[in-house]
Amino acid sequence: MEAQLMQLQSFCIVVLMIAGIKVHKNRKLHVKMMSFAMIWDLILILQIELSRSAILKASKAVSNAMALNIHVTIAVLTVVFYGFMIKSGRAVLSGNNHLRSRHKILGMTTLVLRILTFITSFWAVTPKG
Ligand code: HEM
Repeated sequence: MEAQLMQLQSFCIVVLMIAGIKVHKNRKLHVKMMSFAMIWDLILILQIELSRSAILKASKAVSNAMALNIHVTIAVLTVVFYGFMIKSGRAVLSGNNHLRSRHKILGMTTLVLRILTFITSFWAVTPKG
């Protein structure tokens, strides 16, 4: 599959996350939008993993090896933070309101990581990707 189609999905996920954060006061909608964004992101990772040609092209561009490593590291870290978001989000939902500020800080960190994943994906894609 075209790398550009994957990057378009990646961009949509970032937009969906920002929108989902904006509506956080509507808890039901917030949880739905954030869950959708995270599941879509995991499906996107699967698409990339299954498209071996994309990985081969990226890893063959030796001059990009360092950039690719940085991109993959940030992307993996983002998924780790998804776990923190689900855990802290569920805790807030079950009445631990004092954990809301932690959820907020983790949430902002997750968003920054996700935006960095999107930006660094441009380093990992070869020109005719
Ligand atoms: C990437 C995923 C997520 C991000 C970036 C995120 C981010 C945020 C942010 C920034 C807030 C505002 C906190 C505040 O101003 O006090 C918030 C609120 C909240 N989030 Fe999330 N969240 C995510 C996923 C989830 C999930 C999966 C759940 C539940 C299972 C959840 C449940 C909540 C709840 C209950 C609130 C409080 C809403 C309110 O009463 O204002 N979040 N989230």
